[in-house]
Amino acid sequence: MAAALQTNIRPVKFPATFRALTKQSPAPFRVRCCAVNSAGKKRYNITLLPGDGIGPEVISIAKKVLQQAGSLEGVEFSFREMPVGGAALDLVGVPLPEETISAAKDSDAVLLGAIGGYKWDKNEKHLKPETGLLQLRAALKVFANLRPATVLPQLVDASTLKREVAEGVDLMVVRELTGGIYFGVPRGIKTNENGEEVGFNTEVYAAHEIDRIARVAFETARKRRGKLCSVDKANVLEASILWRRRVTALAAEYPDVELSHMYVDNAAMQLVRDPKQFDTIVTNNIFGDILSDEASMITGSIGMLPSASLSDSGPGLFEPIHGSAPDIAGQDKANPLATILSAAMLLKYGLGEEKAAKRIEDAVLGALNKGFRTGDIYSNGTKLVGCKEMGEEVLKSVDSQVHASV
Ligand code: IPM
Ligand code: MG
Repeated sequence: MAAALQTNIRPVKFPATFRALTKQSPAPFRVRCCAVNSAGKKRYNITLLPGDGIGPEVISIAKKVLQQAGSLEGVEFSFREMPVGGAALDLVGVPLPEETISAAKDSDAVLLGAIGGYKWDKNEKHLKPETGLLQLRAALKVFANLRPATVLPQLVDASTLKREVAEGVDLMVVRELTGGIYFGVPRGIKTNENGEEVGFNTEVYAAHEIDRIARVAFETARKRRGKLCSVDKANVLEASILWRRRVTALAAEYPDVELSHMYVDNAAMQLVRDPKQFDTIVTNNIFGDILSDEASMITGSIGMLPSASLSDSGPGLFEPIHGSAPDIAGQDKANPLATILSAAMLLKYGLGEEKAAKRIEDAVLGALNKGFRTGDIYSNGTKLVGCKEMGEEVLKSVDSQVHASV
């Protein structure tokens, strides 16, 4: 209730990862604030970007879960929903309207559903939904993309890998998100001197871009099992040679982290051969895109995996790693858990609200423990539910924590 808001503003407690980022950053960082209302509740502004396909279904559920978990920890949210991707193209003709950028920049965190769909597939590149997502990442300067892949004991049988290979996998892909071939210039399609069309892109990394993502990765590994594998293609690409050199040099500052290097083709193979050898993986934008999809499959379903994209100052962007799944959109079949877990990452990495985050993670496990499964993670003997029902079960599970704690 806006009227009840007091004017006292207090700084957000930055989570450890965030502090680690800012400590090393040469640029002064903007302290984000949250208002505190008369009841002493913290209030955060969240921009919701439902996007396309199953996006709106999963976002509406994650919103309720955020509200519920927040209320148990004295945290309130004001949500502002803005268009992105195909939804924005239909509405205003561009995939990332200025208003969406400003709302996102002005908020404490951004939660995105998914973008894309058949309808816009043939659009020119600057009018593709995917372009809107890349522009958003660039506008928010979210260079560090954390993509965890954990095989939950409840879902081991959903993996296509043998139980003994999949069981216990718990890895984190730290993907560089605002550089490399995705953004490098020159790029384009032109006609060469023989009159033939040529498409070209540039894989480019400056030293500071490598250093800052490597630091995030070392810090991440330090808080996990202390093992970092840097993935590159240094046997062929100059950008990778520099990558390996910079990462190796930084290792001296993190003597407690065991650093190894692996070529990307080998890493792709090792991920399905023996995924448990990995703890934290750090890699460039395009290798991270590919390897994180591969890692997700070890867990059984891409419908389970959240992600966090962080900058060294402004709001983070949190999104499930799955796409908009137009084939099942609007049919109540989507798995909302990746978005719900992205909301947990938003609380943990974006706002430093670790207790509320834990409530959400526990609630997801609670719903799975009761045997509820969406189609993508269904196996014999479990209860098949739709997107909404899965969301309700997670909410009930958050609720039951109230009773458990009184
Ligand atoms: C991802 C997606 C995006 C990417 C697409 C939609 C632009 O595949 O987030 O992994 O390539 O980064
Ligand atoms: Mg991808």
